[in-house]
Amino acid sequence: MSTIKQVALGSQGLRVSAEGLGCMGMTGGVNGMSVYGAADEAESLATLHRALELGVNLLDTADLYGPLLNERLVGKVLPGRRQHVILATKFGFEVDDHEQWTGGYNGRPEYVRKSVERSLRNLNTDYIDLYYLHRVDPNTPLEDTVGAMSRLVEEGKVRYLGLSEVSPELLRRGHAVHPISALQTEYSLFDRRPEEEGILQAAQELGIGFVAYSPLGRGFLSGEIKSPDDFEASDSRRFFPRYQGENFYRNLALVEKLEALALAKGVTAAQLALAWVLAQGVVAIPGTKRRKYLEQNVAAASLALSAAELAELAAIMPVGSAAGAAYPAGL
Ligand SMILES: NC(=O)c1ccc[n+]([C@@H]2O[C@H](COP(=O)([O-])OP(=O)(O)OC[C@H]3O[C@@H](n4cnc5c(N)ncnc54)[C@H](OP(=O)(O)O)[C@@H]3O)[C@@H](O)[C@H]2O)c1
Repeated sequence: MSTIKQVALGSQGLRVSAEGLGCMGMTGGVNGMSVYGAADEAESLATLHRALELGVNLLDTADLYGPLLNERLVGKVLPGRRQHVILATKFGFEVDDHEQWTGGYNGRPEYVRKSVERSLRNLNTDYIDLYYLHRVDPNTPLEDTVGAMSRLVEEGKVRYLGLSEVSPELLRRGHAVHPISALQTEYSLFDRRPEEEGILQAAQELGIGFVAYSPLGRGFLSGEIKSPDDFEASDSRRFFPRYQGENFYRNLALVEKLEALALAKGVTAAQLALAWVLAQGVVAIPGTKRRKYLEQNVAAASLALSAAELAELAAIMPVGSAAGAAYPAGL
């Protein structure tokens, strides 16, 4: 299997694989929920190692995942391989000393420092390649948060800065304090808000790399989920409006059209969905805890789609077509 190409992310010199590996689903989520079904540490570690073998060097985690357990898991693959990894983690959902999400956000400078020290310990490393503010704290000026993050760059604890789920205005404000190398936002055929809300264009104008998270619509675009009962009882997707009640079936009808196109092309629906995202000139970080899916996703990075195929895909899931909000209230 061929290895994946490397691309620039942002304008500050960071280079990453065109497709990264989303690690969120490898450990439990918050409040005792699983993220996307039961965790499997052995297979997750094997998937992380296989990703690095295939040149997928961008590993995406966050202190929130687990909380903290995900960083500890990712940290296990670093000994002996650290220089080959572009390690991306995030802070900002406030995690307390009992290792629980408080339900709030914290972007205060003292919390920025506390978070980075904790992440470095958990990741078992002395630097983070890409440090994201996971969500903006509504009670702290963004300038104060990014200012504190920029001091971490000066100290060598962090190499590049990122923001996640911000408006074009906040992106500009953050970038004015310290160059932002990456903006991480949900983006897929299923969620085209970045085009609708001008965030994709803003990132391009500012020379900020765009990282598409949940590029498979949290697995829904794979077509493997046919009923809400396919989710395990503890699966967090049960609480996301898009996968509930009538929304579920309206969205499934969209996925069935995607599956028909995939069948005609001889690829999987997940591969087609991923190839569409990558064709938008962004880096995508599909999440999986299985080598089998990782290898399929890596193969999707070399899938060439014609202009007509891209247009057809965009037409079956136009902007705004997914039913239901992207997140439960309060997240
Ligand atoms: N910045 C943020 O706020 C934010 C929010 C959400 C996610 N993220 C990051 O983005 C990463 C990716 O997003 P995501 O994990 O939410 O969603 P995703 O990548 O859209 O989908 C992940 C789901 O798709 C399944 N899957 C993956 N490849 C597949 C394939 N080839 N065929 C069939 N199913 C496949 C996975 O199954 P298995 O789990 O069974 O392998 C998992 O259930 C996360 O891991 C996380 O690092 C960031």
